[in-house]
Amino acid sequence: MSNETFLVTGAMGCIGAWALRNLVRDGATVIAGDLAMEPVRPRQVLSEAELAQVKFVKLDVTSLNDVRSVVEANGVTHIVHLAGLQVPFCRANPSLGAQVNVVGTVNIFEAARHNWGQVKGLSYASSLAVLGPAEEYPEGRVGDDVPLLPRTLYGVYKVANEGTARIYWQDWQIGSVGLRPYIVYGVGRDQGMTSDIAKAVLAAAAGRPYHIRFDGPVGLQHANDVAKMFIGAARAGHQGAAACNLRNDVVDVGDFVALIKEEVPSAQITHTNGNPLPFPWDLDDGGLREILGEMPWTPVQEAIRQDLAQFRHLLDQGLIDLQQLSA
Ligand SMILES: NC(=O)c1ccc[n+]([C@@H]2O[C@H](COP(=O)([O-])OP(=O)(O)OC[C@H]3O[C@@H](n4cnc5c(N)ncnc54)[C@H](O)[C@@H]3O)[C@@H](O)[C@H]2O)c1
Repeated sequence: MSNETFLVTGAMGCIGAWALRNLVRDGATVIAGDLAMEPVRPRQVLSEAELAQVKFVKLDVTSLNDVRSVVEANGVTHIVHLAGLQVPFCRANPSLGAQVNVVGTVNIFEAARHNWGQVKGLSYASSLAVLGPAEEYPEGRVGDDVPLLPRTLYGVYKVANEGTARIYWQDWQIGSVGLRPYIVYGVGRDQGMTSDIAKAVLAAAAGRPYHIRFDGPVGLQHANDVAKMFIGAARAGHQGAAACNLRNDVVDVGDFVALIKEEVPSAQITHTNGNPLPFPWDLDDGGLREILGEMPWTPVQEAIRQDLAQFRHLLDQGLIDLQQLSA
């Protein structure tokens, strides 16, 4: 693995931080590209010695020149493209949302196209938000190829990215894998509506009350597992433009709260009743399984245990801002 050079965009984000950790541990050369330069989340999941092995570069994915320069100057062989603005930010500033999420992704594909051969693999973040409400789909597991019926600008932008990937394969044979996470949880997941799941675990570790603002069955993917999926997908040499559902755990929010309380009986975690998220939860991840072979998967109870231990350690070190619990 040591002859790989990975560019991770959005590397200061939650999934990005976990991607850096896995890549450093694999012995890859790692370029962390982000607009932000303070490694708040990477510091939560990598040791100082591991952080020192990452090359941090300021990168705005809306600039094609900047993206191409980073890819060319560093001899990048694989790209994990995570930079993006989440649902509330796209709603608050649709124009910026489109620039970052849509144009930024076109720029990544352009940089890959101009350096294809040197660049051997590309994975990028789509989202479950490309799908419409559950009632739009027939009973049973929802596959990768169902009609995309997003109900948010964020989802519309992610649909555009899947289309961009399809055309780059059709016209220039740039292979890629897009992943559609549902709720990513774990250390570092501190923003966006569905971050309530991760914050509930942090609150339990900190002895604070917390209210999750939705209920019903949801798909949960642990951040470390998702990072491994992105890395595996970039390495897969996929011939085509796949856009893949993720599954791992499907858990009712009430049951998730009960699992936290099994670990921390004094936890004061509540949730709203009768406000399910407007997405199908019974997703078929067969497409991604075929590409990856083995699916990275930390079962939810084990993941909660790991997160509680890590959050407690970070709280002791003063590396977590509890302000996020009131956001
Ligand atoms: N977290 C989830 O549950 C979830 C679910 C579905 C899809 N996704 C997608 O996965 C990706 C990563 O998610 P995350 O939770 O790690 O996100 P995050 O919000 O924690 O991190 C995103 C990062 O992108 C960076 N960024 C923003 N604009 C940029 C720009 N112009 N140039 C370079 N960097 C920029 C931000 O500084 C931030 O560090 C995103 O594209 C997101 O839409 C996440």
